[in-house]
Amino acid sequence: MTFPLLEGKVAIVTGAAMGMGEATAKLFAEAKAKVVIADFNEEKGRAVTDAINSSGGEAAFVKVDISKSEEVQKMIKFAVDTFGKLDVAVNNAALTPDDKPAAEFDEAYWNRLISVDLTGTALCMKYELQQMQKQGHGGSIINISSVSGFRPQPNNIAYVAAKHGVVGMTKVAAMENGPLNIRVNSVAPGAIDTPMLRGALEQFGLTEEAYAPQLSLLNRFGQPREIAQASLWLASDASSYVTGTTLHVDAGYTSR
Ligand SMILES: NC(=O)c1ccc[n+]([C@@H]2O[C@H](COP(=O)([O-])OP(=O)(O)OC[C@H]3O[C@@H](n4cnc5c(N)ncnc54)[C@H](O)[C@@H]3O)[C@@H](O)[C@H]2O)c1
Repeated sequence: MTFPLLEGKVAIVTGAAMGMGEATAKLFAEAKAKVVIADFNEEKGRAVTDAINSSGGEAAFVKVDISKSEEVQKMIKFAVDTFGKLDVAVNNAALTPDDKPAAEFDEAYWNRLISVDLTGTALCMKYELQQMQKQGHGGSIINISSVSGFRPQPNNIAYVAAKHGVVGMTKVAAMENGPLNIRVNSVAPGAIDTPMLRGALEQFGLTEEAYAPQLSLLNRFGQPREIAQASLWLASDASSYVTGTTLHVDAGYTSR
């Protein structure tokens, strides 16, 4: 293990234009990784990239819709063309959860959410694995799941299905790639204070004071950087004997 933790490594973070992806990209840059900011929100993605580059880090932006295979392949090529290789990937981009009971789910939104949160994450992992296999010096992939990958939430059938799927496919990829020293893990955040969570609170008319104690033994929402710190550990050689697992960063929500 060396300090700074990601010195010499190249990392892709999807969904890095805001929320946890932004916090992860910024923390990885502080840990001296060269970071590819991958997002379909070009304006915000470029702003994050500029902020990293103007504070002594190294980042480059690529526009991608992770639900489209050709765009994901271009994202990997961009990382390799720009920074020479790929060592770490955080597959974080996802759509806001659905909001209807199982008997009434919106079929169009089901298809859209599954195409991003499940298929899009699988596509990213597929082409990241191919690149890491070709390089032959290992790697670390982190797929962002959720407490919804372990616990049912009412009115979130598509999101719960997708996030359970992320946990399963992480284990498959870890089994297949362990002999190549490519580690594949997931992080399952609890309630983290991001634009996605604020949108859900507004939708259901909830406040942090009323809602946080139901979701957190610490009686507060988590901060995006607290998830980024978990991904940093999994990305770095400090977690060199960890693969195929999920790190629960949820203030004990799933421990009850
Ligand atoms: N916020 C929470 O409380 C919470 C809890 C558990 C899990 N999560 C998960 O953590 C991750 C990050 O969540 P967040 O709250 O920071 O989300 P967010 O909505 O704040 O940010 C998501 C980012 O992903 C990008 N994105 C969405 N679809 C994309 C696509 N098809 N291609 C490329 N980029 C795309 C968006 O532009 C945005 O920048 C997600 O996987 C989410 O499901 C969030």
